[in-house]
Amino acid sequence: MDRATLDALGHAFRASPDNAALLGVLLQGCLDAGVPEQGLTLLSAFEGELATDAEQALAARVATLAGAPSRALELLRVTSPLTLVERARAAHALGETAAARDDYRRAVAENATVEDADLAALLAPAPEPSDPPAEVRRLRVVSNDDVGDLALDRLLEPDLTPVTFQDVAGLDDIKTQIERRIVLPFLKPGLFTRFKRRAGGGILMYGPPGCGKTLLARATAGQCKARFFNVAISDVLDMYIGESEQKLHALFEKARASAPAVLFFDELEALGGKRQYTREAASSKLVSQFLSELDGFGQANQGVLVLAATNVPWAIDSAFRRPGRFDRVLFVPPPDRAARKAILQLHLEGRPVAEALPLDDLAGRTSGFSGADLAHVVESAADEAIQDSLTHDAERPISRQHLEAALREVRSTTGEWLTTARNYARYANEGGQYDEVLAFLAKHGKA
Ligand SMILES: Nc1ncnc2c1ncn2[C@@H]1O[C@H](COP(=O)(O)OP(=O)(O)OP(=O)(O)O)[C@@H](O)[C@H]1O
Ligand SMILES: [Mg+2]
Repeated sequence: MDRATLDALGHAFRASPDNAALLGVLLQGCLDAGVPEQGLTLLSAFEGELATDAEQALAARVATLAGAPSRALELLRVTSPLTLVERARAAHALGETAAARDDYRRAVAENATVEDADLAALLAPAPEPSDPPAEVRRLRVVSNDDVGDLALDRLLEPDLTPVTFQDVAGLDDIKTQIERRIVLPFLKPGLFTRFKRRAGGGILMYGPPGCGKTLLARATAGQCKARFFNVAISDVLDMYIGESEQKLHALFEKARASAPAVLFFDELEALGGKRQYTREAASSKLVSQFLSELDGFGQANQGVLVLAATNVPWAIDSAFRRPGRFDRVLFVPPPDRAARKAILQLHLEGRPVAEALPLDDLAGRTSGFSGADLAHVVESAADEAIQDSLTHDAERPISRQHLEAALREVRSTTGEWLTTARNYARYANEGGQYDEVLAFLAKHGKA
């Protein structure tokens, strides 16, 4: 609304000063034009009644922004999420921040569509001054040629939010294996010593992308009492000859020093590719280094377990599979029907959902979807629900329609991987290494 229209409507309003609908249009116009003071003047001339919470909220907002928060508080007589937000805004303007925060929190808890980013920013507690004053700051000298603590600590990514086995749906076989091989030996070392079974060794997980390998490893970290080192391989690889090997060695040394420990190498193929495929002598040397570090455990080191994951197992040097190295190779399959339902449930948890979602039915129709695909379905459904809530100005929980719409958008992504894997399993199944894949394909009639 431009200024001329605003003025013209203002004249009309003065002729009938009890017209609440007209006042509403004018107040919104004043807010949009950034002249709340003009709105406040109109408000003083108003002789009618502001009946609904929306009308009261709008008027109060104009009053607060025009610098009259006490007037705003008088205007707010109905209590609803809309008016609570305005009460918070007025309280903040009056310097009563605690009360304002309370009101705002209550409003958003009741109806999330009333969120107001500007007000929320005003109400957020002021950040603590974090930078030390200038004179305390010290220069730190980082020399280029040390693989000391600093570089090493950078390799060991800080852990994200802790995850446990409860956050991983399905995959019960693999969980049992990990429990038996990682968690138990560290909890009952005496028993294992009696049977001369050493804790440690290696487990390699492989399977189609997005089916929970990385998630499982993170859950293992949360589950076991051992120290968990998450190695970012991109950080190990170094362009200078010999540097990568040194870093790798330093990593293993650190793990040995802090046993019981689990070292996790994600995307192992980046580090342990087949030696005959890598023409560069340097990277094949890295594989050799890795192998000798793995062997190092067998001789001298108790209580260090190496966990690795890849989705291209056929690109991994077969020397890795020798007993004592990665002697357990586990297939992480796409989730079955029950697991798919559980994954959907897990990802819907804590979000507003309509009652009685047909999750059984959805799980039945998402054969071949990976965990990541299902997570994506839920995210898209949440997007739909947000859009819906904004259109209706009221919170709409995630419903069957939202999930159906999301399902039309998301495609399953494991098919391509399974086709490739089938070829390796049929024609290059040395030592029965892909038997689990064959069994999976046979069970689903695709072998
Ligand atoms: N079994 C599961 N339970 C719950 N969520 C799962 C499960 N599997 C996958 N997801 C979801 O999919 C996301 C991706 O899984 P993850 O990163 O573990 O896949 P990945 O097997 O490591 O894939 P890639 O081979 O591409 O690295 C997870 O963050 C999680 O949200
Ligand atoms: Mg991964």
